[in-house]
Amino acid sequence: MHVSDARKRKCHHRRFGAGPSPPPPSKSGIFRVKPTPRMGLKLGGRYEIVGLLDCGGTSEVYLAKDALAPLPVIVKMLTEEAARDMQHRERFILGARSSMNLEHPAIARVFSVEIPPNEPPYLVMEALRGESLAEYLVREKKMSQPMALALACEVASGLVAAHKAGIIHRDIKPGNLYLVGPPGAPRCIKIIDFGLSKDLRNVGYGPASLNLVLGTAQYMAPEQVLADPVDERTDMYAFGVVLFGMLTGALPFGLRPGIDLFCQHLFSPAPHPSSFLQDVDPRLEQLILRCLRKHPENRYESMQELLDELIDIGSHPMANTGEVSVAALKRLPDVYIPRSSKGSGVAEDLARHFESEATPLSIPQRKSESESESESESEDTVNESVFKVVKEPPSTK
Ligand SMILES: Nc1ncnc2c1ncn2[C@@H]1O[C@H](COP(=O)(O)OP(=O)(O)O)[C@@H](O)[C@H]1O
Ligand SMILES: [Mg+2]
Repeated sequence: MHVSDARKRKCHHRRFGAGPSPPPPSKSGIFRVKPTPRMGLKLGGRYEIVGLLDCGGTSEVYLAKDALAPLPVIVKMLTEEAARDMQHRERFILGARSSMNLEHPAIARVFSVEIPPNEPPYLVMEALRGESLAEYLVREKKMSQPMALALACEVASGLVAAHKAGIIHRDIKPGNLYLVGPPGAPRCIKIIDFGLSKDLRNVGYGPASLNLVLGTAQYMAPEQVLADPVDERTDMYAFGVVLFGMLTGALPFGLRPGIDLFCQHLFSPAPHPSSFLQDVDPRLEQLILRCLRKHPENRYESMQELLDELIDIGSHPMANTGEVSVAALKRLPDVYIPRSSKGSGVAEDLARHFESEATPLSIPQRKSESESESESESEDTVNESVFKVVKEPPSTK
């Protein structure tokens, strides 16, 4: 089912409810840049670096003047070190090129990708004024339900467009969602970092290389934890974690990255947002819990289906239909089934780690040897019960 344009407009233009503190008056619209050795450098005879906005593990984000246009632009450049690694380099270029094809109000526009002979590759994109959702949440902790819902509709519709174009973000998190407008009073939200860091961070995924995934471990779907194939439902899981955080100011499995966090993504049912925050719309709560299901088939079929439901919730807030979805959710067993023998090995290791923890398991179910033997196991088919290790989420009250 597709949403009518009128309903989409309604969602995009919803007025946000009271919630965040008023914005600081003078800082709106100002880019705060740091000095950089590249200051003054004119790339491609066109983009003059003005200052450094942000630097991550593998790239640097610069504010630049465009000699051919009056508006500033953002130049995102691979670091020298990452550019020397051919895999990083190619993924950066491929990811940047695929995001150039995405034109949607909730996705930051990428104008071009350049590969100069004497500098690392870089992309040029629209400069957004505001702050990342991560910065917002650090300051405000959480946001009102109407505001979270309206912004979630925008992000979901951006993801619908991306998925339709065959692109999975794989790194949806507050640092990659940008609130445009004065700090504390955003006008809209845009997805950034599209398809870029995904593959870089995929390298060496898994408990043996925990250090490579620190930044995003909190948002990783079970299939990502095991380096299994991902699809749009992987973005949906991360979207669910983000929405959980926007509403409650907490994350379903906490903030601390590490092997325990991976175990929780794989084996622990997500806690209910209402255990962190009273008065959560029951349908919104069920929507989040559905995004956070372990087995991708237990999530929504598509981002479009999720968006339709979000819009419906926004149109009929607090409608008393929560019970229906709760019942539907309970019917489905929810166990992630690894898709490869490598993933199964990692899951077995994680299950052992998880079981050895002090907290008692509420439903430890492993099949007996004879039961397992009677079932055919191909390289890619894994007996689901082997991984049915379920712990209650940590008490939150
Ligand atoms: N188009 C943009 N306009 C304004 N700020 C941006 C833009 N793109 C990135 N940034 C800032 O730089 C930060 C890192 O950008 P991102 O593309 O996520 O790089 P990384 O790959 O290092 O995560 C963002 O959180 C945001 O604060
Ligand atoms: Mg990022």
